[in-house]
Order: sequence, then C-alpha cells, then structure tokens
Amino acid sequence: MNEHWIEVVVVCLRQETERVKTFTLSSKEWTLPTWSAGAHIQVRLPSGTVRQYSLMRSRTPNSYDIAVLHEASGRGWAQANLHWEVFAPSSQNDDRVGATNNLFQVELRRSGLFLEVLPSDSVLDVVRRAGIHVESACQKGYCGTCLTAVVEGVPDHRDDDLLSDDERASNRIMTICCSRSCTPKLVLDL
Ligand code: FES
Repeated sequence: MNEHWIEVVVVCLRQETERVKTFTLSSKEWTLPTWSAGAHIQVRLPSGTVRQYSLMRSRTPNSYDIAVLHEASGRGWAQANLHWEVFAPSSQNDDRVGATNNLFQVELRRSGLFLEVLPSDSVLDVVRRAGIHVESACQKGYCGTCLTAVVEGVPDHRDDDLLSDDERASNRIMTICCSRSCTPKLVLDL
C-alpha cells in the first residue's frame, strides 16, 4: 500500500467543552486534500501512535479541524490529547437503552442532506445509509469515536457518562451512535 503522510502543525487549539478540544492542523508546505462530509484522517504522533479522527468543518483555509476528547486519567494534554480511553459500559447506559425512542429530523449541514430518524434507527445508522461515513467503535456511547459536532438543536444524550454535565448542557457535541434528539430537528456538522 502506498502511504502518504503530510507533516502538519497545530495552528489553533480551542477548548470547546470541559473535556473536548478542537485542534486545527495545517501544513506550510502542502495543500491539504479537499474532503467531503464523513471524511476522516489518521494522525500519527512523534511517538508513532496513530489515531483516526473524523474531520469537522475547518475554520481556516488549508487546515483540518478534529475534536479530541480528553482521557479520564488526567495525565495532561501533552500525552493524552490524541488518545481515547475505552471504558466498559455501566448499568446506567443499560437503563437508557430502555428509554422511549422518538422520531426526529436530522440535517447534515455540510452535506445538504435532510434525514429522518425512526424510533428503530440510530442517527449513526441513518447517516451511514445516506452515504456519509462516520467512524464508530463501541456503538454504545462509551468510547467517543462517533462524537459529532452539533450546529443546532438539543441532543438527548444517551452516552455512558462519556460527556460531562457541562458538555451535555453546551449542546455542541453528541455521540450519534446512541444519543437522540429532544428537539424535532438536529443540525449536525456533517
Ligand atoms: S461509537 Fe463509541 S461512543 Fe459512539
């Protein structure tokens, strides 16, 4: 396989919520490839660790934005900011699984798609069926792989204690594998 890596630097770092930061990556030497909704990148750190992230809407030219969840170990961002911790699901999540599922609309703002999420579907299911690729792993709300930025609307958070109370209250990010909507419509940055 022909692998091509582009060296980038972090040009901007924003604290989106208590534990989620957005990193803006850019390259002085290369024009970054264009991308469409659902695209993801692999990030290789100087340590050799490789992680995969979904791309979010870039706020500056020739740059990529990725959202990174702080791991719970508290070792600090220098080591932890590109690392995801995976926890076993707790019984609290099992309770949420039994919650009533509603029907709601989802707009994928960057893709220009309007979708309907039936009670039997997850947002992730519907988004994927529409041809938009979003990374996922646990699909139970505890790994954070599917974290997606929310543009409008109020998510019905059903993650397994992944997000803090402040992060939930911010309505700016959600796990689309299991969370739903409190409002008739959600607008996502996809
Ligand atoms: S895939 Fe793990 S939280 Fe959604």
